[in-house]
Amino acid sequence: MSKHKITLIPGDGIGPEITRVAVEVIEATGVNVEWESVLAGESALCEYGDPLPDETIASIRKNKVALKGPLTTPVGGGFQSVNLRIRKALDLYANLRPVKKFKGIETPFDNIDMIIVRENTEDLYSGLEHIVVPGVVESLKIITEKASRRISHFAFSIAERWNRKKVTAVHKANIMKLSDGLFLKTVREEAVKHPKIEYNELIVDNAAMQMVINPGQFDILLTENLYGDIFSDLAAGLIGGLGLAPGANIGDEIAVFEAVHGSAPDIAGKNIANPIAIILAGALMLEWIGEVDAARKVEKAVQNVISEGKVRTRDLGGNSSTTEMGEAVIEAMEKL
Ligand code: NAI
Repeated sequence: MSKHKITLIPGDGIGPEITRVAVEVIEATGVNVEWESVLAGESALCEYGDPLPDETIASIRKNKVALKGPLTTPVGGGFQSVNLRIRKALDLYANLRPVKKFKGIETPFDNIDMIIVRENTEDLYSGLEHIVVPGVVESLKIITEKASRRISHFAFSIAERWNRKKVTAVHKANIMKLSDGLFLKTVREEAVKHPKIEYNELIVDNAAMQMVINPGQFDILLTENLYGDIFSDLAAGLIGGLGLAPGANIGDEIAVFEAVHGSAPDIAGKNIANPIAIILAGALMLEWIGEVDAARKVEKAVQNVISEGKVRTRDLGGNSSTTEMGEAVIEAMEKL
């Protein structure tokens, strides 16, 4: 069996607790993984004086795959988001967030199974802000044909690779005629190249309403950076919260897998965080590296644990601990 060398970033807050459990689950699949553990975030700042040391980036670049715990970003002042720095340094231009309803979680909709593909490098996240005159600031929204093209290509490729039926582009090109207009024009050009995948478009405000009245209509949602950020949390809320939502940041050769949620400092160190999102990110990672059977095994075990309902963390209405949840998933895998 081939060995996979994978970079592991435990992260801040609840990160070390939940990544430890995810590692145990991944190892219990039998897949041969050698972990290279490196620091980023507050722990790296304490140890190296830099929240993103060169050796961390070098490790991901070398191994091409990483599992990353959440990283704390100070609000307002302080250091720049390490997540943003990782995405920029490694050109991880696609943010992938599958959102699937689990049997056993009470939500108003039963048929949610979508993937949000979010452009990860530009838009209002380019970090280009300046003070025009005191009391007036300007933030620049950058949209390029190059980035729009590669994210469109990524979305349609994922649709083909995972047998998805439809791509929906989300935009506000009726108002931002140049920026969102360019994004939309580029997506349309890509859509024509994939005639087997149905393609449609929704203006972002309508898309938000559709998301809460009929989320089952969405298959792959293709968005710029800001809309995708908001929609991924909105969609995660529809399936029972952030504790269940995995994500990935993907470039042409490198992919970093993580939970959608943050470092949850309010519950850190208490062994009560839900590890499912990072476990599912691990499953996504297994699929990405070609270990499809192991990925399916993890997903099935998570589904069984959740639908049985005996072991649940506090965010899902139970009293179980982080470690108990991990043990339950491993036990469920053994029964498959
Ligand atoms: P958060 O996602 O950390 O927490 C929001 C709420 O959800 C909190 O009440 C928290 O306790 C709860 N929560 C989050 N994950 C949970 C889990 N696995 N199990 C149970 N409950 C969970 O968002 P917040 O508070 O806005 O951010 C905290 C820090 O995380 C900030 O420094 C932020 O910048 C960072 N962050 C990092 C991300 C990443 O590394 N990818 C993503 C989002 C935020």
